[in-house]
Amino acid sequence: MKAIVVTDQAAGTAGMTLTERPEPPTAINDVIVQIHASGFVPTEMEWPSTWTDRAGRDKTPSIPGHELAGVVTALGYGTTGLSVGQRVFGLADWHRDGTLAEYVAIEARNLAPLPGDVDFTVGASLPISGLTAWQGLFQHGRLQAGQTVLAHGAAGAVGTMVTQLAREAGAYVIGTGRAADREKALDFGAHEFVDLENDALKDVGGVHLVFDVIGGDVQRNSAALTKTGGTLVSVVGPVEARPADGLAIDFVVEADRTQLGEIVQRVRDGRLRTNIGTTASLDNAVATLNSTGRREGKTVIRVRP
Ligand SMILES: NC(=O)c1ccc[n+]([C@@H]2O[C@H](COP(=O)([O-])OP(=O)(O)OC[C@H]3O[C@@H](n4cnc5c(N)ncnc54)[C@H](OP(=O)(O)O)[C@@H]3O)[C@@H](O)[C@H]2O)c1
Repeated sequence: MKAIVVTDQAAGTAGMTLTERPEPPTAINDVIVQIHASGFVPTEMEWPSTWTDRAGRDKTPSIPGHELAGVVTALGYGTTGLSVGQRVFGLADWHRDGTLAEYVAIEARNLAPLPGDVDFTVGASLPISGLTAWQGLFQHGRLQAGQTVLAHGAAGAVGTMVTQLAREAGAYVIGTGRAADREKALDFGAHEFVDLENDALKDVGGVHLVFDVIGGDVQRNSAALTKTGGTLVSVVGPVEARPADGLAIDFVVEADRTQLGEIVQRVRDGRLRTNIGTTASLDNAVATLNSTGRREGKTVIRVRP
């Protein structure tokens, strides 16, 4: 099969090559998915799981990409709940070969059915940003209607999902980002916008939930804004600052079939819009993933035209 592989951590995405790899075998409870579209998060080259297996052994050449939408072509021993020919989307295991390839072996529980009226490109754009937003807001952040959310990076892949889900849940959403992000963040549903380069973050006053996708000074300044009993949720590594009288949580997104179902249902009925910036074929993926310039939303690779 055709696949993109990386072998050199120092080279980052510049070390990606499109090559031939053996099709993956199935393990217990796996399915094989013929991938139609694959999502990619630019920071993947920094994740330890791109380079080592769970025991810390070198796993290169490694296939990056962890979001997928495609069609089940085979079931492993003991697999239940999915069938051959079924459209699916989901989140691939961090430590196994990923989804910038024509096929992937993946545990069935990491997948959800993809309804026939949802395009594969849309399906592949949802798992990481949608699940991250869902888990950060509702599991870790315990968001309630009427609360105020400070959604950092509100025009980005995760931030647009955070903004829409929080607003639907009845929260007041203050989005942040660069000056150029204002219109997009408001368009995705933020009630107001803070330009982190020109406005004073402290002027937003107290918030119940900070959703941080940036870290550093932005996180430190946000901790001070968290109200008593509030939560600072970070997806950019261990928290560097804690609210004086609240919780600080850092987490890595997990696959969840029920939550994927909730997310895709919202896409179908118009409550949730995707934020896809760039699409490219697998043949053009290496060049696309190495292009310079500002990303506008999620990059999705169309593996099958
Ligand atoms: N822990 C997890 O499970 C998990 C899951 C998903 C994502 N993440 C992480 O979350 C981060 C965001 O992911 P994403 O896919 O949403 O990325 P993205 O689409 O690039 O969105 C991030 C947004 O924040 C903006 N931003 C970043 N630094 C800023 C700053 N100092 N001031 C103002 N705006 C700033 C970006 O603008 P620019 O592009 O101009 O910088 C962009 O609009 C990444 O680091 C990713 O690895 C973690």
